[in-house]
Amino acid sequence: MTLKLVNGAEIPALGLGVWQTPDGAECERAVSTALEAGYRLIDTAQDYRNEVSVGKAIRASGIPREEIFLTTKFRPVSDDPYAAAEQSLERLGLDYVDLYLVHWPQGGPTWAWPGMEKAAQAGFAKAIGVSNFSATELAELAKVAELQPALNQVYFSPFAYRRALLEAGTAAGLVTQAYSPLGTGDHLTDPTVGRIATEVGKTPAQVLIRWGLQKGLSVIPKSANPDRIRQNFAVDFELGDAAVAELDALDRTGGTAESNEHKWW
Ligand code: A2P
Repeated sequence: MTLKLVNGAEIPALGLGVWQTPDGAECERAVSTALEAGYRLIDTAQDYRNEVSVGKAIRASGIPREEIFLTTKFRPVSDDPYAAAEQSLERLGLDYVDLYLVHWPQGGPTWAWPGMEKAAQAGFAKAIGVSNFSATELAELAKVAELQPALNQVYFSPFAYRRALLEAGTAAGLVTQAYSPLGTGDHLTDPTVGRIATEVGKTPAQVLIRWGLQKGLSVIPKSANPDRIRQNFAVDFELGDAAVAELDALDRTGGTAESNEHKWW
């Protein structure tokens, strides 16, 4: 399943996140395993410091570059998104990324955007977008952007069911993407999630991933474990309305338009 971006490209709905996967053999193995299992979306960032391994695994896979959707993110503490993109590509050993995101709105939601647009115009990135932006920040950016952001990647799960943020994104024509869809693992032991998983004969991780896909999100669970990487991709099933409603009710954010309860920058 894919979702359509404003630049006309398709992004796979389900991908592998490599936040907290250490650079080196572990990250290479995670990305290789994912590509073998059928994943075609890989999500990294300058801040994760594992672009070298991600690039190695992609290049070693033998899969044509155009069949893989690769995201990286600008670390908004260096001041030039254009130069930083060039350096990312050098680490990755690739000619372009499919998506380049402002990792978080440090210093305000707009200052980095001209450099992001320049990176896109230079062909370093096919599409550009943002991460950890609230609805207010999206609106501020929309006012000044020449190239509109294609995607907002935020913490999103049944426990952080930010309806208002999702609606604002959809209204602005961008895809919302869920990072930490398993609550960095914390949501896997929730009794409601566990009961639903038993009822549908799936694992708690599969239920949480499926919930996000059914909400129209792109979802990027992180795992460095080959079996769990494969398990997280096996989500070709449907949650019924009752199960979805029960999961919706786990929200602790009040359906907020904020991207995170606590800003950590
Ligand atoms: P591991 O990498 O050892 O598999 P999130 O995507 O919400 O950030 O969650 C990532 C965390 O959840 C990691 O600690 C990861 O550990 C764990 N995890 C990922 N997939 C599964 C799974 N299918 N079952 C159990 N734990 C998982």
